[in-house]
Amino acid sequence: MLDYDLEAAHYDRTRGGVDRARAAAGAVLELVPADCAVLVDVACGTGIVSELLTAPGRTVIGVDMAAGMLALALPRLGGGGRAVRGDATRLPVAAGAADAVTFMWLLHLVDDAVVAAAIAEAARILRPGGVLVTTVDKDAAQFESDSDVGEIMRAARRELAPRASDDSERVRELARAAGLEPAGTARYVGHGQGRAPQEWVLRVREQIGWARRADPDRVAEICRALEALPEQDVRRTDPEYTVAGFRLGGG
Ligand SMILES: C[S@@+](CC[C@H](N)C(=O)[O-])C[C@H]1O[C@@H](n2cnc3c(N)ncnc32)[C@H](O)[C@@H]1O
Repeated sequence: MLDYDLEAAHYDRTRGGVDRARAAAGAVLELVPADCAVLVDVACGTGIVSELLTAPGRTVIGVDMAAGMLALALPRLGGGGRAVRGDATRLPVAAGAADAVTFMWLLHLVDDAVVAAAIAEAARILRPGGVLVTTVDKDAAQFESDSDVGEIMRAARRELAPRASDDSERVRELARAAGLEPAGTARYVGHGQGRAPQEWVLRVREQIGWARRADPDRVAEICRALEALPEQDVRRTDPEYTVAGFRLGGG
């Protein structure tokens, strides 16, 4: 995982800024009941999405493990105890205290054990009938578009990547085991997240875990295919991300 204390300074600018945050918050709010009074945004980061989840009569509490990100979330969430340091697997929130819990761009970053523990923890802090909303299949969404890059990267991923930690089917199974039943999905445009072929070459060579573990000759072939595409520095279509909602039984 990236060092989010270092990322904090340029996170908002490089992740689609307010346009992406507005789209993400809009999708979350399709799945969160309007009368939700306490929403816990786990892995809130800089709070750029969290602040757009606020509403009259609603308290939004951001939790994140990176102090650098939280420092930016604090003023956005009104200070006080509304942005707190904590781990998704051990939230500093009482059992049954939340009407909604959100994980935006968290589950794809952490390993399978953390995903399972975080979902169980969300179920612990939700009241009966409360909802968990989480992004799923985040990295796969990058390659769903019918762009030339999408075609190459989809095939490479199918061949070389293990199942993602935020795989929607697995998240659904874990949610069900924690007493959370599916409660709809929503989609949003990841503004500013479409990448140019030359950016993907760099990522395949240096950043993507499954590519770094793959046979170097195969990785070189993938890079050559990306390098052969036209308009090397032109960003392709922004991806559309999915958020999935789950409701805790007993409400
Ligand atoms: C990609 S950022 C997403 C931030 C925000 N949700 C957004 O959509 O802009 C991921 C965040 O997850 C936080 N994070 C990673 N693992 C965590 C964990 N186990 N518990 C709490 N926060 C975590 C990181 O510190 C980082 O701020």
